Amino acid sequence: MVPKVVFGRGCFDQLPSILAPQRKDKAPFIYLVDDVFKENEELINRMNLRFNDKLIFVSAEEEPKTEQVDTIVKNIKSEFTYRPSGIIGVGGGSILDLSKAVSIMLTNKGSASDYQGWDLVKNKAVYHVGVPTISGTGAEVSRTTVLTGPEKKLGINSDFTPFDQVVLDPDLTVGVPKNQWFYTGMDCFIHCVESLNGTFLNEFSKSYGEKAYDLCKEIFMNGNLTEVESRGKLMMASWHGGMSIAYSQVGVAHAMSYGLSYVLGTKHGVGNCIVFDHLEEYYPEGVRLFKEMKEYHNIDIPQGICGNLTDYQMETMIDIALSLVPLWENALGEDWEQKMTRDKLKELYLKM
Ligand SMILES: [Fe+2]
Repeated sequence: MVPKVVFGRGCFDQLPSILAPQRKDKAPFIYLVDDVFKENEELINRMNLRFNDKLIFVSAEEEPKTEQVDTIVKNIKSEFTYRPSGIIGVGGGSILDLSKAVSIMLTNKGSASDYQGWDLVKNKAVYHVGVPTISGTGAEVSRTTVLTGPEKKLGINSDFTPFDQVVLDPDLTVGVPKNQWFYTGMDCFIHCVESLNGTFLNEFSKSYGEKAYDLCKEIFMNGNLTEVESRGKLMMASWHGGMSIAYSQVGVAHAMSYGLSYVLGTKHGVGNCIVFDHLEEYYPEGVRLFKEMKEYHNIDIPQGICGNLTDYQMETMIDIALSLVPLWENALGEDWEQKMTRDKLKELYLKM
């Protein structure tokens, strides 16, 4: 679990005082910041960089890659003699995951791709702080960092992955474009549906999942909330949804969306929406609500993206999806292989 968290409008201003006790002599803090904030001087000034601290702007245009993690780590190691005092990620799921991975790879040998899987990390990561600027992915709270590697899209799942500190300031999510808000918010909604309908469900996960599910309905269906209320609630929904899957697992939508992402580069939020729209067979009630929310907010989901795949691309997509064994086990039970065949997956992908 994340051991320390602050929440509240404007709490981002506490970041310098939170970091100060963690500073080690001559060892910088490295800030990995979404490059949408490149021109945002006000936000950058609030971070209050000192001494040899370094700010690195990162594009979230593409999802994080193991190679990208390796490059950032290599650059940090060659620029600084001392191991950084900490890594601070300021951005959405991609930047948060990248920050977690960089902090792990600063203390572990080899390439990030060596650690994609469950509990492969040997050494404790460098102190790392997460500051989400969009809500829904749960990356701020999860024990994974999802990376695309040379062979697979898979997270580094370990006890060293979660942030040491998270700063939840709902005001940082002001200005997120509407489609992005919806797609990322639906990532949270889908986490809840997949967790609550999975075979791995337990009371611990359930209590978080149910709370996040209710918050999502309040945010995306009722329409009576002020923007301030809605931002605060979505930030907490993301947290609770993330907690729910951390102690159970995701399901069909995530497995299939990973396939889309690996072959077509489809981003996680929109990828989940593309897939989930066609999963009524597996999650009837969740998909019904999803369609209602989509209509209500007048959101377009891209269509026909699998129409022109080559056979090789389709087979790769299916391979990637099927490789996520725990997701299928959670969704369909131990005999999932009888239920989800390659033909069935192909039929579903062709609808998307
Ligand atoms: Fe997700």
